Amino acid sequence: MSTDDLFPESFESNVPLALDCVDLVAMEMDHLCQQLHHHAHRYYVLDAPDIPDAEYDRLFQRLQALEAAHPEHARPGSPTQRVGGRVLDGFVPVRHRVPMLSIRTETDTEPTGAQAFDARIRRELGLSEADPAIEYVAEPKFDGLAMSLRYEHGVLVQAATRGDGETGEDVTQNIRTIGQIPLRLMAHTLALPPVLEVRGEVYMRRDDFEALNDRQRQKIAAGAKGEKTFVNPRNAAAGAVRQLDPAIAAQRPLSFYAYGLGEVSPPSEGGPDLATHFEWLQALKHWGFPVSPLASIESGAASLAAFHQRLGAQRDALPFDIDGAVYKVNRLDLQRTLGFVTREPRWAVAHKYPAQEQMTTVLGIDVQVGRTGKLTPVAKLAPVFVGGVTVTNATLHNEDEARRKDVRVGDTVIVRRAGDVIPEVVGVVPRTGVEPDARGEPYTAPTHCPVCGSAAVREEGEIDTRCTGGLFCGAQRKQAILHFAQRRAVEVEGLGEKLVDQLVDGNVIRTLPDLYKLGLVALASLERMADKSAQNLLDALEASKLTTLPRFLFGLGIRHVGEATAKDLAKHFGRLSAIMGDTPEQAATVDQLLAVRDVGPVVAQSIHTFFQQPHNREVVEQLRACGVTWAEGEGAADSLAPQPLAGKTVVLTGTLPTLSRDQAKDMLEAAGAKVAGSVSKKTSFVVAGAEAGSKLDKARELGIEVLDEAGLLALLQMPTSA
Ligand code: IVH
Repeated sequence: MSTDDLFPESFESNVPLALDCVDLVAMEMDHLCQQLHHHAHRYYVLDAPDIPDAEYDRLFQRLQALEAAHPEHARPGSPTQRVGGRVLDGFVPVRHRVPMLSIRTETDTEPTGAQAFDARIRRELGLSEADPAIEYVAEPKFDGLAMSLRYEHGVLVQAATRGDGETGEDVTQNIRTIGQIPLRLMAHTLALPPVLEVRGEVYMRRDDFEALNDRQRQKIAAGAKGEKTFVNPRNAAAGAVRQLDPAIAAQRPLSFYAYGLGEVSPPSEGGPDLATHFEWLQALKHWGFPVSPLASIESGAASLAAFHQRLGAQRDALPFDIDGAVYKVNRLDLQRTLGFVTREPRWAVAHKYPAQEQMTTVLGIDVQVGRTGKLTPVAKLAPVFVGGVTVTNATLHNEDEARRKDVRVGDTVIVRRAGDVIPEVVGVVPRTGVEPDARGEPYTAPTHCPVCGSAAVREEGEIDTRCTGGLFCGAQRKQAILHFAQRRAVEVEGLGEKLVDQLVDGNVIRTLPDLYKLGLVALASLERMADKSAQNLLDALEASKLTTLPRFLFGLGIRHVGEATAKDLAKHFGRLSAIMGDTPEQAATVDQLLAVRDVGPVVAQSIHTFFQQPHNREVVEQLRACGVTWAEGEGAADSLAPQPLAGKTVVLTGTLPTLSRDQAKDMLEAAGAKVAGSVSKKTSFVVAGAEAGSKLDKARELGIEVLDEAGLLALLQMPTSA
């Protein structure tokens, strides 16, 4: 639950009235009260919930339903009577001059949810069908924590949490460490109001959250006491904001979006006179606040529903968690007319998406073998719908994590799936039931690789246990091939997991270069492989041969060399031979590698070691012998590496036999050429393919050199042969 949306999206209650024994009802209500108090304390005070929000919501609704049906049993101190957080000891309370409201939640996650809201607004405003559509601002519902920022004469004077909506906590010191929050407002054509309270959401980006948890795991592995991992970005953000030591808060990367206002000087006292919420968002942006570019004006129910759909489709790709869309009536005069019900404005609603955390049961714990031999414990789960997909596996990261979380077969666990991050078990739900413990054994890393049987070892000081089988291990071979063939590496279209399984398990290929030795017969003989798909794969392999140095380096799967490092290496060295040398002795030394931007000792050592291994050199040489190639000097634009086409202007026309237009353009640009759209006297040469039209004619007319694809490739290879 976020501090105020205690209304769940799905409510599967066993209708309370089915119970005919009233004592049982009273008992259940008491039990629910206790549970909810316990969980609210963990959530609000300890920042360490042990059940998912959706489960809390379910319990909360169950209690609400029971209280509605049996008001005589409702307890005065029931959690349903108190919505919101509380003030922690250690922070100074701040009374909000304008209360921080919550938003009504539309529990229907379908488009009909938007229709219901629009219909309600129209009814409240007394509009008929003939009246025009209402204008709304639709925004993401950020999953962080609400913050009120008070500026006096343009200077940040106070930051306060929402607390219970009336009184929050003064967290100014911590908030000042958030780079995105202006300490002073930027000048703008709109005069600065003497008093301006900006409301918005403090949140943690998913990548920042993952990096923070990685650091936490490392600290824990190194034996640090009192450190923990965080269950989700919102909790990590809440923990950081309420961290009593601002120095620690500063190490937790937080972000901010502004979406509303608290107290603001009226126009008569120097405040701006704006008519709509959207104009306010623009004003906030000009004063220097981050305002979501996703906020948009939508008219009428269908347009809101379309926004919900669109935003939902983008949800995984966003760098931060959202749990719904928020719709707000745009015109401020209409907002005033609509007013409030208790602490919720009638003019706004939160239209939810499926929850990103759910509970389920652990059916087993498997061990997966990664590309570098890393053994990862993976929980096999009873299928659960979370973050928009059905999840049956969730990572437990490593042995220490699995033991620290104490995940065992039979446990009820919280699973989180957000973005394209792999589903994760964030914790075990403590057992409260009457059933005696029927838990499995604590997890221990295997002593042998479950795939190839080689010894599995965990080196001193390492977090991971690894299979020592190297490329002897089928699992590692498969992963190495998949890694090489992925889109961001050398890209072999259509070479997916199933096919690689077949190829490796059937002993059709053993090493990467074997891929390029595949023939139609061998392929077509694979089960379920039609001639046509076999030919497609061969075509894809052929097309993949022309690649780039960064993609190739990344595709090799050198430990610690991701895409960015591969690019830096290519840029720095320009040519592969400068990195691997003709012999191991000539390979780049650790010191030379350390000169590459962002390459530290661990990475440098890993690259050096990789190219000292005869079998790795063999793989590279064979791949090249099979025809895998690229323009040397690529990406060397701002280094001293050769740029054979620097200063040349090239025009592409027609369809080239193997290169896509983008590929050809990338290669030309990497070699220093400028790629132009039309032929002129300044054109250095034209690269023409099939069905080249007027550009080719023009080139001939002007006597400009014309190359075909082969000619272009030959040209780009020049420095290699030198
Ligand atoms: S407007 C009068 N806009 O949702 C409405 N709230 O349930 C005041 N939230 O506590 C809030 N994204 O933490 C608003 N775009 C958005 C929001 C948003 C997230 C949170 C906020 C607030 C809660 C309201």
